Amino acid sequence: MKKIGILFGMEDTFPQAFIERVNSKNEKNIIAEAVSIDKVIQNKGSEYAVIIDRISQDVPFYRAFLKNVALTGTNVINNPFWWSADDKFFNNALADTLGVPLPNTVILPSAEHPTDTNSNSFRNLKFPLDWEGIFEYVKFPAYMKPYAGGGWKNVYRLENKEEFWDKHKQTGQLVMLLQEEIVFTQYFRVYCLGCKAVKIMQYEPRNEPHLRYVHDGPPIDKKLLATIKDYTIRLCEGLGYDFNTVEFAVRDGIPYAIDFGNPAPDADINSVGAENFEWVVEEAAKMAIAAAKKQKPGKINLTWGTFMKQAVGK
Ligand SMILES: Nc1ncnc2c1ncn2[C@@H]1O[C@H](COP(=O)(O)OP(=O)(O)O)[C@@H](O)[C@H]1O
Ligand SMILES: [Mg+2]
Repeated sequence: MKKIGILFGMEDTFPQAFIERVNSKNEKNIIAEAVSIDKVIQNKGSEYAVIIDRISQDVPFYRAFLKNVALTGTNVINNPFWWSADDKFFNNALADTLGVPLPNTVILPSAEHPTDTNSNSFRNLKFPLDWEGIFEYVKFPAYMKPYAGGGWKNVYRLENKEEFWDKHKQTGQLVMLLQEEIVFTQYFRVYCLGCKAVKIMQYEPRNEPHLRYVHDGPPIDKKLLATIKDYTIRLCEGLGYDFNTVEFAVRDGIPYAIDFGNPAPDADINSVGAENFEWVVEEAAKMAIAAAKKQKPGKINLTWGTFMKQAVGK
């Protein structure tokens, strides 16, 4: 018997539907259930062939649990080691090597010194930085957001330098990206499961949260759809994320990748809508079943991106 587990937090629709869907397929020797955790002992395996992780970004104890079970053979989706390592700035840099169009982006030292450091800790940093060069490269209006963030927290749209200085001061110890604004005509949020199954969803980020997924939008150019699909798969393969959403803002017909490391993307029926929900539940169930069949007990079964594979020469 191979077990598929799902680890989740406050979600009330996707995990339950996922478990039901996997079990409704009546695959021989495969069952799905909510992960149950009791005492966690070093290098002791979990009973799961596959775990879909929807919450460890908010619960460090769960992240540690997942790394431990990954070592003993569980295929954790998404890879908890990679998820601990990447950030938006690195992901942008990697995306650039993959040929995906991006807004011009720089990373900035935090406005305040990190705890237990002082100006001596920054003697390697030029003072002042070449701010004019930075502003010229990024241009205003610009977006400023945490280099490792999500959920629209601390995301600023800045009109000019003055606003930049004012807002940057308020970001404290956060490390921020400063990024060119893409003034878009279309925006897409794209689900990608197993680096294969792709669902392109029209999205209007300027609407109120419950109206952001567009369900009866105009038809989209086929070539644009094909390009978005291609970029989405490149990004997910590069990063090694099996369960991800990728966002693109389209300017002059070119899709620019805006936010593409969302390894526990919103899958709630009340926000994505019934049709997208059905797609995610079905594709996630199929992906998890395939992963369970492929899983080799006692071996490392994680997905690694092309970047990591190349880095270790595999
Ligand atoms: N460079 C940009 N150009 C245009 N809009 C952007 C840009 N960066 C962010 N946004 C807007 O801000 C929103 C939140 O930014 P995002 O990078 O997705 O952060 P988070 O990871 O917190 O969701 C995006 O959905 C988009 O609407
Ligand atoms: Mg986003």
